[in-house]
Amino acid sequence: MIVGDRISLRGLKITDVPMFLPYWNEKEFMDYSGRTNPQTRDELERWIKKTWHARENNQSYTFGIVFRESDLVIGYISIKIKNSISKRAGLSIGTFIPEYRNKGLGSEAIKLTQDYCFNSLNLLSIELNVFTNNPRAISCYSKLGFQSIGIRRKADFVNNEFLDDLMMDLLVKEWEIINK
Ligand SMILES: CC(C)(COP(=O)(O)OP(=O)(O)OC[C@H]1O[C@@H](n2cnc3c(N)ncnc32)[C@H](O)[C@@H]1OP(=O)(O)O)[C@@H](O)C(=O)NCCC(=O)NCCS
Repeated sequence: MIVGDRISLRGLKITDVPMFLPYWNEKEFMDYSGRTNPQTRDELERWIKKTWHARENNQSYTFGIVFRESDLVIGYISIKIKNSISKRAGLSIGTFIPEYRNKGLGSEAIKLTQDYCFNSLNLLSIELNVFTNNPRAISCYSKLGFQSIGIRRKADFVNNEFLDDLMMDLLVKEWEIINK
């Protein structure tokens, strides 16, 4: 478990499912994740079990974001190793309970994860993708040092429209300068 000021990060458990299943198919969370089909309880449970296997194989590290005051799982954050030679990983995050967005909690989760990536996993870069119609996420990532490196145009089709996908990344050297 990784403990921060207001949140902690820990592995997801099957017993978490009843608590966050009602939010898992929330529209904004799904739309910005590019997920077009709602998922069932079984699918969510299967996904959680997959995160355990991927963790055991050091392929990816998925954490529930727990709001410490209420012990509620409000979202998830995940790091997927994309290239173990160049030590490059992809980050994805989502706060699925709407009331907990825009309160600095996503930023805190990303900061803790950056620290985990660069200090514990010894990665050299983290990258992410975000739709260009998601200004809050872009603002959050930019604030934490991620730089825009390109746009994949009309990359996804969500809600009957084609969306552009902004690619961002952060190198360990840049992160060290920001955090020294
Ligand atoms: C994206 C997400 C993880 C960010 O976490 P969060 O806790 O909401 O974000 P934070 O409060 O830490 O930071 C958001 C920042 O964006 C700013 N912001 C909010 N709305 C904005 C807008 N419309 N335009 C520009 N900036 C905006 C906030 O002011 C804040 O910056 P500040 O700390 O300098 O004031 C979360 O909102 C979320 O999961 N949203 C739904 C799903 C999603 O978008 N997933 C990401 C897919 S790439």
